[in-house]
Parts: sequence; C-alpha cells; structure tokens
Amino acid sequence: MKAVGITPRKAHTARLVELPMPDVDHVPNGRGVKVRILQVGVDGTDKELHLGEYGAAPEGFDFLVTGHESFGKVVEVGPNVKELEVGDYVVPTVRRPGHSLFDAIGNYDMTSDATYYERGINLRHGYMTEFFVDDPEYIVKVPKGLKHIAVLLEPMSICEKGIIQAYEINRRLKVWRPRRVAVMGAGPIGLLAALCCRIRNLETVVFGVDKRPFRNAELLDEIGASYCSVQERSVEQEYKEHGRFDMIFEATGFSPVVFDSMSALANNGCLILSSVTGGKRKVEVEADRLNLEFVLGNKVMFGTVNAHRGYFEQGLSDFALSEAEFPGWLSKLLSHPVDGLENFKQVLTHLFEAKNCTKAYLNVSKDD
Ligand code: BGC
Ligand code: ZN
Repeated sequence: MKAVGITPRKAHTARLVELPMPDVDHVPNGRGVKVRILQVGVDGTDKELHLGEYGAAPEGFDFLVTGHESFGKVVEVGPNVKELEVGDYVVPTVRRPGHSLFDAIGNYDMTSDATYYERGINLRHGYMTEFFVDDPEYIVKVPKGLKHIAVLLEPMSICEKGIIQAYEINRRLKVWRPRRVAVMGAGPIGLLAALCCRIRNLETVVFGVDKRPFRNAELLDEIGASYCSVQERSVEQEYKEHGRFDMIFEATGFSPVVFDSMSALANNGCLILSSVTGGKRKVEVEADRLNLEFVLGNKVMFGTVNAHRGYFEQGLSDFALSEAEFPGWLSKLLSHPVDGLENFKQVLTHLFEAKNCTKAYLNVSKDD
C-alpha cells in the first residue's frame, strides 16, 4: 500500500513510499484492529519534520511515514477485540509506551524515559497511508455525530491535557476558580485551547501576531473570546489595564513568549507550555524579577506534551459541548482540504504558504 514518507533530518524529502499491507495478526493475542484512514491533518510539527528539524525513522527504515492527526474507520478486528467493531469511526493516539513506570500504567504521554515513540513523528510510522493496525488500547471510538470534526481530535487532546493538568496541579489550592485566561498564539492549538476555555465559561484573551482582518480572529469572536494583535497592543499593556491571567496556555512555537507569559501570570496562576521549539534561540530576561514574582506569587509553570486516550475522550465530550453551544464552529477550522494521498504535496503547500489556513488536511479515502 502507498504512504507518504520523509527522510528525517533532511529538508523537503516527502515522497510516496510503498509499505506492506498490515494485518490484524501483527498484534499479539488476537487484539489487532485494522483501520482504513479517511483523513489526516498537518500542523507545526509536520512543518518541522518537512524542514528536517525534528523526527526519526523507525529502526530498519530509512524513511518515516508522517501524519499524526488522523481519523479512520475500522475494517477488521482480531478475535479478542471486544471494544471496537467493524464500521466504527476512530481516532488513534500518537505515543506508544516505552519502559518507565508511567508507560506501564497507561500514562505513556508522561514517560520518564529519554526515548519516546510517536507515530508519524519519532521512531514509529504515522498515518499518512491507507491502513494501519494497532491494539484497541490506542484507538478511541468516535460517536457518529462527531465524525465530521474528528480529524481535529488529536490537536484537541493536546489542549485538554494542558488544561486538565493545570486544574490537577492547582488542587494544591483546595479551591481554584480561574477567571481570566490568556492563550498565546492564534493557530489551530490556540483556537482549540480558547474553545476549551470558553466551554468552561472563562474570560479568554487570545494573543496573536496578525492584525485584523484575520480569519482566526473572527472565529474567536464567534465563541466569545477576545483577540489581541501584539502589533497593536502588547501583552503587558493588556494585563496592566485589565489584570493578570489566572491561567495562560502558551502555543506560539516562539520561545521568547514564555517570558512575557511569566510576567503576565497572576498570583497562584498556572502557565502551561506546549510549544515544541526545535531551534537554539537565546534571549536576555529580567531573571531576578521573574523569579521573585514566581516565588512571592506561588506561581506554577509546567510543560505538557502529547496526550493519552483519556484526554482524547475528554476532547470528544468537549466537541459535543462545542457543537451544542457553537454549532458548526469546529467545521470552520477545517479550512484547506485536499483529496487523495497522491496529492500530499498540495497539503504541504497549504501548510507552508496558504493565507488564512487554519487546518490543512488530506482526504485519504472516501467514507462508504
Ligand atoms: C503532536 C504531539 C507530540 C508533539 C511532540 C505534536 O505536534 O501533536 O502528539 O507529542 O508534537 O512530538
Ligand atoms: Zn501535532
């Protein structure tokens, strides 16, 4: 079968490659689930992969099949699979367990191993292909009524993990009722993080670079979040006028923003860092002040990567809430579709060049 492969750590090598058809027997104990891919989305991590800045091929291969945001349909299950059946719509998770205690208890997104395995990113083939086979532990069933937005579930799971963990961490306060939230970055993760906050009824300010007219700013208007272009108004101006933020979700992909975010955080607040930054950028910061404010304000800053199936499931619940509160909004994020695996280059052109591209994605095969 066909797949889209790259040579990791080399720029612009994407090509069609051939892979053997996977079989349910490849998973031990009759637990294989075979899925036909319907859609695959691309994001900033794919950009880094295609620029040769990130990623690794599985052992024994000189290429990596890309694609980690996906949606598909079950076509075959092994004899000992009870949780899924043929015809179910599904989204697979991305990480696969390593060897630490956290991997053993299903928290593979919290591995303490130095090496991590991620389908479509690091050491495991991804989903920009026709079929895959995996254990049902890593495959989340999607309700039929949410299949039109399911390709957004993987990025949504990243937002869910960050926000749920912020609440989890702030159980140290016994009561934590964040009121004002900032989201740094108005890309797909920024928009989905803002949605998570609006669903939880939080006052939400999203900071981005682009000035209006800007499509993502209009999308934010529709869910009652405010948009602020840092070309017109700095983060500092905003918090000096309207107060600091109880929670900040950083998703710009530009590491210096982390330090502005530290300054903008309220006492007892939580700063969530989610940007994967492959470069070597250096900045000078007011270290004494930042440290002092964190100490005197009992503030927290933490990193979050990937997500286990629980966060995918929470993402589905929030998708349902979103469709109830903001009907049709999530579909508007799916801005740049391309039909057919062989047209993958078009999806990359959208990812790198298209104006107002919220999410480019490939329709790999048609649903029947
Ligand atoms: C993916 C995550 C992954 C992270 C780091 C993100 O783009 O959505 O699943 O853990 O990159 O590789
Ligand atoms: Zn991603």
